[in-house]
Parts: sequence; C-alpha cells; structure tokens
Amino acid sequence: MVITAKQEALVVSSWNEMKDDAPTFALKFFLRLFEIIPSAAKRFSFLRDSSLPLDKNPKLKAHAMGVFVMTCEAATQLRKTGRVNVGANTSVQHLASVHFKAGVADVHFEVLKFALLVTIKEAVPYMWSEELKEAWSESYDHLVVAIKNEM
Ligand code: HEM
Repeated sequence: MVITAKQEALVVSSWNEMKDDAPTFALKFFLRLFEIIPSAAKRFSFLRDSSLPLDKNPKLKAHAMGVFVMTCEAATQLRKTGRVNVGANTSVQHLASVHFKAGVADVHFEVLKFALLVTIKEAVPYMWSEELKEAWSESYDHLVVAIKNEM
C-alpha cells in the first residue's frame, strides 16, 4: 500500500474545502513557482507567445488546475490500485513526452511541490498538520515519479 486510507481521507477532505476556489489556489502555486524560478515560465509555449499578464492567462490557470486535480485524484487511485492513473484523456507517457520536450526539469517539479504545499497551508490553515502535508506530498511524489520514469 503506497498511501493509507487516512492519507487519502486527508487529501480528499481538504480538497473538498478548497475545491470552490481551486482555480485561484492552483494559479497561486504556479505564480509562486515563477517567483522562485522566473525562467520556468518560458517553458510554456502559450506564455512565450502571450502579452497577457501571467495571472490573467486562462491556459496557465488550466494547466495549474490540471496539476491540482491530478494530484488530488492520485491519492484515491493509489489507495485503490496502488498506482497512478492520469485519466482517460491522457497518459503518463504523453505527459512525460510533453514535459521532456518542453525542457521541464527536476527542480521545476521540486519547487512546484513546495509551492503546492505552501498554498494548501494558506488555503486551509485550520486543517493543516504534518499528516496533511505528508498525504499531499505522497500523492504528488507518486504522480511525478510516474511521469519522470517515462521521461
Ligand atoms: C503540459 C500536467 C508539472 C510545464 C501539461 C499538460 C498536462 C500537465 C496535463 C498538458 C499536456 C498536453 O498538451 O496534452 C502536469 C502535472 C504536473 C506538471 C500533472 C505535476 C504533477 C509541470 C511543471 C512544469 C510544467 C513543474 C514546469 C514548468 C508544462 C509545460 C507544458 C505542460 C511547459 C506544455 C505547455 C505548452 O506549451 O503547451 N502538464 N504538469 N508542468 N506542462 Fe505540466
């Protein structure tokens, strides 16, 4: 078992608290990534070609939301099947190929994890604990390892 029932419950219950504002939180953790590593924004074709401010870019918000939802869903998949399944519309191999071609590096995944955890802490301070942090970390790490193994 790579994730416990308690860890899944922690991820899902905190997600339920955040889901109404999830796009805002998701954008927030990407903006935090770009604050720490400004050059990471250049990896995105739609940011290179756009004159919109980062926080107004709908494609950036959509990518950020994808990361947030997939990390949350990974908790349930890991619990049920012991592995990550990124859904019917994509595959781990496709995600690996897209990220590899875009030049996404280990450090981007690492800093994004930090940004995700800080954002969750700010979003649900009344739920925050070491256990909650560990539960989200496990989900994110398994999702990223699945992608990186194919890169
Ligand atoms: C594209 C998910 C982390 C940069 C994508 C796509 C998805 C996705 C679903 C769209 C793939 C498609 O075109 O069909 C994820 C997940 C992540 C993650 C689940 C982590 C758990 C990152 C990080 C970066 C990044 C850390 C760092 C900069 C990109 C770029 C693209 C992309 C540059 C291509 C966008 C474009 O130019 O069209 N990602 N991503 N991703 N992602 Fe991520």
